[in-house]
Amino acid sequence: MSENNLAIVILAAGQGTRMRSRTPKVLHEIGGRSLLAHVVVNAEKLAAEHVEVVVRHERDRIVAHLADLFPSVTVVDQDEIPGTGRAVEVAVDALPAGFDGDVLVLSGDVPLLEADTMRELVEAHRATHAAATLLTAILDDPTGYGRVIRDVDGSVSRIVEQKDASPEEAAVTETNAGVYVFSAAALRRTLPSIGTDNAQNEKYLTSVIGMLREANERISAEVAGDPRVTFGVNDRAQLSDVARILNARIVRRWQRDGVTIMDPATTWIDDEVSLAQDVTILPNTYLLGATSIAEGATIGPDTTLVDCEVGEDAVVKRTDATLAVIGDRATVGPWSYLRPGATLAEDGKIGTFVEIKNSQIGAGSKVPHLSYVGDTTIGTGVNLGAGAITANYDDITKHRTVIGDEVHTGSHNVFVAPVTIGAGAKTGAGAVIRKDVPAGALALSVAPQRNVEGWVEKNRQGTRAAAAAEDARNAQKAADGRQGQEEDR
Ligand code: UD1
Ligand code: CA
Repeated sequence: MSENNLAIVILAAGQGTRMRSRTPKVLHEIGGRSLLAHVVVNAEKLAAEHVEVVVRHERDRIVAHLADLFPSVTVVDQDEIPGTGRAVEVAVDALPAGFDGDVLVLSGDVPLLEADTMRELVEAHRATHAAATLLTAILDDPTGYGRVIRDVDGSVSRIVEQKDASPEEAAVTETNAGVYVFSAAALRRTLPSIGTDNAQNEKYLTSVIGMLREANERISAEVAGDPRVTFGVNDRAQLSDVARILNARIVRRWQRDGVTIMDPATTWIDDEVSLAQDVTILPNTYLLGATSIAEGATIGPDTTLVDCEVGEDAVVKRTDATLAVIGDRATVGPWSYLRPGATLAEDGKIGTFVEIKNSQIGAGSKVPHLSYVGDTTIGTGVNLGAGAITANYDDITKHRTVIGDEVHTGSHNVFVAPVTIGAGAKTGAGAVIRKDVPAGALALSVAPQRNVEGWVEKNRQGTRAAAAAEDARNAQKAADGRQGQEEDR
């Protein structure tokens, strides 16, 4: 729709009192995006000539959010006169005076509506030459929504807000979605004169419908095929309802694209995540932000990935990772913690109770057990022994550890950075590596073991340890005696 004579007005000026939040309602998130961003993303698909967002409550936060994500939308400030009618009035005033097309009005708190439905509403409006076309829904529980009141002939006559409705009107189950197309001319004719004589003392946009009807102008209505796309968010309960509906939609989309998702109820996938064919997602898994998973990888159970990249056929189990890159065929977990800048190359392994931060681990290298690796570069074919710790922080600054190709380290090593281990080197168990190790060297830092015989029985007399030691020595003596007799025979 280019040269389409269409303006889109998105309402986002309300306070959202029922959320009881210091965050403005339209900035609450579902599927990794604000409610408002969902609306703008879909609105932008219509390529309208003008896209305006009306703001007032917490306007600076909302304007900053829009500038960040949608620099091309126009911000319009609502004044102190409250109500959806006033919001649209200031938006229409901000359009070029000569604009004589149609105005699609969207609510910043109705996030599930997709671009196709918006487009169909505009098309229906134009096909019927209406002054106004509204989207409605038949809801089992219409509580909170404006009700659509129709004449005996079925044509829409007006909308009544729940707070202003008589019991008969409140019993109507057809609701106003808060999504409409108007001809700009019809809005200019009616908006200035709508009053505030209602339960909320606001200028209701919904009053326009009744006024147009009284002026004998044509009102069209489209009933949403799936009423859930019209769900609005006014409180936290509705926020979780729409989040679950959005998630179910995302899960279905990936299943159709060839992803196995074992338990949709406990799998949460943000809108911007991308998954390849034959990815398998096990229960209790959260794929968030801009995470992407390549073909054949298996993620979960119990895994959270935020802005991560996972390679083909990788396996990531019971892991928490943010801004990490996991290579093809690599394995991670169970119980691994990958912090920003953790990079594991192909065929690598990060194992149980291992934390990695800002470190590159080369192809085929393994950090299998109980380790902390921070600010480290690890070459290829490396094996870090159990309990490897990089001491990267000297209380003032962070330093790097560099470990060359094919290095194998003993268990329970501490690498006191800055330090470099040359290619092919080895280290002994328990070593504290404070100095660089040349390529191919064996580094030992632990003093030879010295046994002080009989120390416990002498210094810990009467303890259970002393008794056990005595028993063991007696048993050993007896065994030695028997062996002596046998040898004598
Ligand atoms: C509104 C409709 C109701 C409809 C419902 C659908 C009116 C009077 N009522 O009710 O018929 O069923 O949406 O979800 O329109 N806003 C402004 N400026 C304001 C007030 C609100 O921009 O002065 C914005 C809000 O930020 C919000 C949207 O308009 O994005 C709707 O406002 P809200 O107060 O949530 O209206 P509802 O009571 O839900
Ligand atoms: Ca609402």
